Amino acid sequence: MISDRIKWNEKYRRQDYPHAPAAVVKEFCRLAPGRRALDLAAGTGRHALYLAGQGFQVDAVDISDEGLSHLAGRHPAVRIVCADLDRFDITPNRYDLIVDVLYLNRRLFPQICEGLTPGGLLIFETMVASPAGAGDEGHCRDYLLRENELLHAFLALKVVYYREDVRTGEEGPRRLASLVGVKRKGSNE
Ligand SMILES: C[S@@+](CC[C@H](N)C(=O)[O-])C[C@H]1O[C@@H](n2cnc3c(N)ncnc32)[C@H](O)[C@@H]1O
Repeated sequence: MISDRIKWNEKYRRQDYPHAPAAVVKEFCRLAPGRRALDLAAGTGRHALYLAGQGFQVDAVDISDEGLSHLAGRHPAVRIVCADLDRFDITPNRYDLIVDVLYLNRRLFPQICEGLTPGGLLIFETMVASPAGAGDEGHCRDYLLRENELLHAFLALKVVYYREDVRTGEEGPRRLASLVGVKRKGSNE
């Protein structure tokens, strides 16, 4: 949506943003069976750059040209795609690794499974709504997972790691779900 671009361009102009990759990406990306990766809603590219440094060829997709401008020209193995993920379709059977951190778009759930190669790895981490809505101010609830939602959404994968709890980071305490799953070989999804 064009409103997403305006909102995120403004945020990237105004705010500092995290530079360190999420721990779950650092810990599990080595399980990917090959080197072709997709970073969904890549932002300023902290994960795309990290993965490129680990030998991956990365497609980094985001709607914010302002965010992506921080990534442009930083690594030859990163291909920048400025696109609206409400319309973008993931090419089936293409990626050995798909990373989605702090971005929720339920339309993409089946496409994420289809986009993985057999044995391909999904690393997904994003925010979960609090049971009573406490502390969710400033976040549209459509963009927050429900309890256990991420786990249920990707049960077609072999889930090798799942965690859902409150964690304190640079942006204070927040409730996060983290999932790492492997696409089963012989699966058509
Ligand atoms: C919280 S940031 C996360 C960025 C990055 N994944 C990270 O962890 O640093 C959310 C990102 O989603 C992107 N985004 C929001 N709506 C989008 C859409 N419709 N299409 C593509 N990207 C979108 C924003 O531009 C922003 O970069």
